[in-house]
Amino acid sequence: MAGKNDKMLVWDVPVRLFHWVLVALMATSYFSGRAGGDWMQLHFWSGYGILTLLLFRLAWGFVGSTTARFASFLKDPAAAFTHVAHLFRKEGPRDVGHNPLGGVMVLVLIFAVLAQVVTGLFTADTDTGMVNGPLALKVADKWVERATDFHTWWINVLLVLVAVHIAAVVLYLVWKRRNLIGPMITGRKRIDQAVEPGAPSPRLAFASSRLAMSILLACAALVYFIVRAGG
Ligand code: HEM
Repeated sequence: MAGKNDKMLVWDVPVRLFHWVLVALMATSYFSGRAGGDWMQLHFWSGYGILTLLLFRLAWGFVGSTTARFASFLKDPAAAFTHVAHLFRKEGPRDVGHNPLGGVMVLVLIFAVLAQVVTGLFTADTDTGMVNGPLALKVADKWVERATDFHTWWINVLLVLVAVHIAAVVLYLVWKRRNLIGPMITGRKRIDQAVEPGAPSPRLAFASSRLAMSILLACAALVYFIVRAGG
């Protein structure tokens, strides 16, 4: 019988590193993009880093550990509604990994950030023409113009999505007394917050770090070739 403070490993190291490095790189991209000038070099590099991370996470969603897999947290819409209904129960829902609603948010965040970095590759500084994304000279001007408009506008949508994401995590903490942040740092979640009372702990499979490293290197190589394709 699990005690109140017993914990179980729910998040592997790759997911945790992905999350916090993504947060750091997004902050770097945001502030370097706002600063402009010489900071644009850093902006480009952090963008390439983000693209590498996102490609890695998409692959990890298919071959990674149980809780990292899309199949484990992307349920049918009814599950998300049931989860919302459970939120109003005194006990609140218990989830080993992402809950059905959080799972949707994860996918939305990943693709929203992907849209930002991919359009960044085709973005050009229309005022000076001095700072071009690596692929801006490879496509027609009208596409560069569209990518540039999207890249400068979409960041506002991203800021709203990130704010909603953080607000949801804080709401869980304050309202439901579910600390989701600790597990994203340590990997470990209190069993009584993950599993229904009396239910057996689920068997989770954790993928190897060697596999994670190989996928990460392959993604970095892919990004390198994409950037090099710009000449
Ligand atoms: C740029 C800002 C952020 C972005 C883009 C972002 C994105 C994400 C993504 C994509 C995931 C899914 C992780 C995975 O399965 O690989 C996630 C989960 C999570 N994030 Fe963030 N995040 C951001 C900031 C933060 C901050 C500041 C916090 C802490 C206050 C936070 C707390 C969490 C937690 C606790 C989870 C796991 C939620 C759960 O248990 O289902 N995030 N985030």
